[in-house]
Order: sequence, then structure tokens, then C-alpha cells
Amino acid sequence: MTAEGEPREELFRLVRSLKERLRVDGELGRPLTYLVREKAVAATNEGGESAQDLRESPVAKKSGLDGVREMLGDCRRCPLHRTRHSLVFGEGNPEADLVFVGEAPGADEDAQGRPFVGRAGQLLTKIIVAMGFKREEVYICNILKCRPPGNRNPQPEEIAPCEPFLIRQLEAIRPRVICALGTFAAHTLLKSEAPISVLRGRFHSYQGIPLMPTYHPAYLLRNPGAKKQVWEDVQMIMKTLGNGT
Ligand code: URA
Repeated sequence: MTAEGEPREELFRLVRSLKERLRVDGELGRPLTYLVREKAVAATNEGGESAQDLRESPVAKKSGLDGVREMLGDCRRCPLHRTRHSLVFGEGNPEADLVFVGEAPGADEDAQGRPFVGRAGQLLTKIIVAMGFKREEVYICNILKCRPPGNRNPQPEEIAPCEPFLIRQLEAIRPRVICALGTFAAHTLLKSEAPISVLRGRFHSYQGIPLMPTYHPAYLLRNPGAKKQVWEDVQMIMKTLGNGT
């Protein structure tokens, strides 16, 4: 590559990423304040359309989990749609106090269209019950809504188009606590690259909501010794929610 080629490539990358952000934000009805701030302020001053008006446009008003599901549609925003059998949106109480966010559907979830229904899911259900909840009282979803083939790790280009929908789901539910299951959930939600072993064990903040990272149930199946730490983590969640201890 020539010395001139690199900034050109960088510019193309930036334009591509801005186009993708505009497309997803537009579809979701997210306010494009990074583009319209000056116009919105000027319009407000003239007694016209304010930034608040823009936020309350008919598209942006499509709120609630059903609205997010509708926006997602028959998603083809990343290559995972080619290999998936089902899109796994998430399930549970739309007004849950507690939301669990995992990594991505596995084979069982892909087959059934429901999150955490395989072996790791059965363990998660046991954890939820041990916390004093019924599974249907909490909400369960993932960073990715489609299964990566062979259960490989989620790729940044898969997370990027999927994340706005997770953000919208969390905005719609507005839980009192979020539990991030495993590295990918913790890294994506906290924008951190610290190891899960360092992140777990204390609350972080996600948009003002206490977020507890802990080990993924699939990790616990391979490393049962880590169950003690997960129990410590979920006890902190229970205390915050006024459940049990
Ligand atoms: N692992 C996850 O992270 N999510 C699921 O839904 C199932 C297994």
C-alpha cells in the first residue's frame, strides 16, 4: 500500500462506518443529534422544531419491546442471517427488574428461537430460581441475535449492527439491574476490555443502571469451581433488588 493509500482507506472506512450508523439509527428512530444539533438549536430559537421534537418523531415513538422487534424485522444486517435458523430476540418480562445479557444463541437456541435453552441455559435457569425469581419474571437476551456458526466468538462487524437493538431493548425495559454473562456481554455493554475475572464482583454503571458482570454459565459448566464467585455476584444483585439475603 502507498503512503497516500492509507489515509484514503481510513477515510473510506470512516465513511462506511458513518453510513452504517446513520442507516441503523435511522431505522431505529434514534435522534441524529450528532448531525442536527445546530439546526435543532436554531429551530428552537425561532420557536420551531426542537431537538425534543426530533426525538419524538413518529419513527422514534415506536417504543417498547414490540416496536424494537418490529424494527429488527427479518434482519439481514450482517452475514449471520445466512446461517441462522431463527432470530433469537429475547424473552421474559417486559417490565423486569433484572435483565440477563448473554453472548449469542447456540445450536439449541437457534433451533428453538429462544435464548438460553440449552445446557448453559438450564444452569442459568437454576441460578435465576436460586435468586428467588421465576425465569419468566426476568428478561433474558444476548449481544447477538443470531448464532455464529460453530459457536465461534462474535465478530465486531456482527456486534456493531446488532448492538443498537439491544440498547433499545434495555431502554424499553429500563431494568433496575443488568447482569452481563461472560466476556462479550461485559465488554460490549461496558466498552471495556478488562478480563471478566477483573470486571466481575462489583457493580458498574450502564446508562445509570447498576450492571454486574459475572462468568457465563457455559464457563461454569467447564469450570464448576467458579460457581462460588457467581453466587457471590448474584447475591449482590439480590441485595440490590431486595431479594433474599
Ligand atoms: N449462550 C448464550 O450466550 N446465549 C444463549 O442464548 C445461549 C447460550
